[in-house]
Amino acid sequence: MAESMVGLKRTHRCTEVSLLDEGKSVTVMGWVQTRRNFGALIFVDLRDRSGILQIIFDENIIGKEGFDKAYTLRNEFVIAVSGKIQKRSGAINKNLQTGDIEVIATDLRILSESETPPFPIDKDSNTKEDLRLKYRFLDLRRPDIQSNIIMRSKVATLTRAFLTKEGFLEIETPMLTKSTPEGARDYLVPSRIHPGKFYALPQSPQLFKQLLMCSGYDRYVQIVRCFRDEDLRADRQPEFTQIDMELSFVDVDDVIDVNERLLAYLFKEVLDVDIELPIQRMTWQEAMDRFGSDKPDLRFSMELKNVSELVRDCGFSVFANAISNGGSVRGINAKGQGGMPRKKIDALVDFAKGYGASGIAYIAIQQDGTVKSSFAKFMTDDEMAALIAALDGENGDLLLFAADKNKVVWNVLGALRVELAGQMGLLDKSDYKFLWVTEFPQFEWSDEEERFVAMHHPFTMPMDEDIDKLESDPGSVRAKAYDIVLNGTEIGGGSVRIHQADIQARMFKALGLTQEVANEKFGFLLEAFKYGVPPHAGLAYGFDRLVMLMAKRDNIRDVIAFPKIKDASCLLTNAPDVVDDKQLGELSIKINI
Ligand code: AMO
Repeated sequence: MAESMVGLKRTHRCTEVSLLDEGKSVTVMGWVQTRRNFGALIFVDLRDRSGILQIIFDENIIGKEGFDKAYTLRNEFVIAVSGKIQKRSGAINKNLQTGDIEVIATDLRILSESETPPFPIDKDSNTKEDLRLKYRFLDLRRPDIQSNIIMRSKVATLTRAFLTKEGFLEIETPMLTKSTPEGARDYLVPSRIHPGKFYALPQSPQLFKQLLMCSGYDRYVQIVRCFRDEDLRADRQPEFTQIDMELSFVDVDDVIDVNERLLAYLFKEVLDVDIELPIQRMTWQEAMDRFGSDKPDLRFSMELKNVSELVRDCGFSVFANAISNGGSVRGINAKGQGGMPRKKIDALVDFAKGYGASGIAYIAIQQDGTVKSSFAKFMTDDEMAALIAALDGENGDLLLFAADKNKVVWNVLGALRVELAGQMGLLDKSDYKFLWVTEFPQFEWSDEEERFVAMHHPFTMPMDEDIDKLESDPGSVRAKAYDIVLNGTEIGGGSVRIHQADIQARMFKALGLTQEVANEKFGFLLEAFKYGVPPHAGLAYGFDRLVMLMAKRDNIRDVIAFPKIKDASCLLTNAPDVVDDKQLGELSIKINI
């Protein structure tokens, strides 16, 4: 039977008491984690969001009625207990913050009962994630998820405190708005009042934060929900949160400076980790050449080596053809992996095919110096020796090569590098390696659209020395764009924006956008720029990703209270769901499936 808590007031959370409170009367409230009976004593571990406190029900102290009530307690009952703090009579539990104390109960109320939960509310649950997400309200009680959610709140609070001190204003921007230029599909919201018209949920507040700069607010920040209808991965959700910021009268270094100090502050306050400043910077070109990725994981080396010159005229047609077609041949050295069984190498080749490779060529150098290779028969001994030397190959190493267009080679070896590092145990989650990747290309060629598209977005400023190439050689123009990368994950990105109308017009032209289309899409921003626009720049973090890495998790679902699964549905609420005809009618919508 559920009792009321009238007349009771919680005095402490479970772990807010310690030996210093010995003899104090307290009232604690929470969930029953476990109940154990020992004759005239009943032990209950009481849990709240702070942790666990041991309660003892002694028939001689609480009386028969209270004792009998304690006997009925089962896991996840919600109870209120009044009693006195005492030093543990039994063994001290070193694994518990309150392991040296207990509450000797004088009063017990059962505030609500619980059915048996579908899975145990424990740390490190083996329960399948689908079941956990269906009962997310129970899953959120588990201490490991709870500590992530608490850490997330702390990171948000500290971010606000730090940036407020730095002169940032927190300003909200609309959720019902027009399409923004971040390149994913929009989530649309039909308008009842304007039949046939739709709002778009923001992919980011990009245009609004630029407008706020035009309006003179000079330093803006918002911890803001963004929506993108794109294929989900471990570090992507359809709705996610950004720490979004914009600054006026600044250049790249100013944005980097305040953000480095923010990151150092967060890591110190939350994890007691010292980040060495300044954070390393690397151009996009160098990142691709050395690591095959624009978000290199610097916790390990295994760098790519370009061996094109060594194999340009070799007898292995896969290599020679890749080069004559304008591509390259590059390799990586997986140190100490030369003894890898053939089956495992084949699995790596399949893995590489998933990233666009037509195959992977390998040289497995055995401990005795002999060589197993997929392509040695096409090569001279000297050519093989030269390849091994180029990759610093030693006895026991596995050398892997990809030959294709540069983009494919980078993609494949970049992914293989991380996959192998995982297999080799080189990815230590408590080793935090930050990197700024700078000087991104302004454009990338879209085969699908047969035109250049903006790599960041169309308002990103080209580098000063490249502006003159906007018309003559757009493919080589670099942008004042930067990403902040942590352990191989892009945790944030931003750029200096174009504030001069003439450069913006040239950008649109290079992107194949007529002034008319540009006006239709972003007219309000271009209009604002006519009335005095300050030079400005900004950056947005993927807040979920940042917290995921701080919490040492592999998936952002673990740091989001109510996440969605891979197909963008919510197992808890069953969203998205059908709506009734009346609602559709009001929105002038007919379903056509
Ligand atoms: P961008 O598109 O790079 O830039 O996004 C910024 C950061 O947001 C995170 N992110 C995501 N996190 C979870 N799920 C997703 N689906 C998802 N998509 C992106 C990434 C990314 O680095 N307006 C610009 C910023 C600017 O120029 O100031 C923008 O949104 O960590």
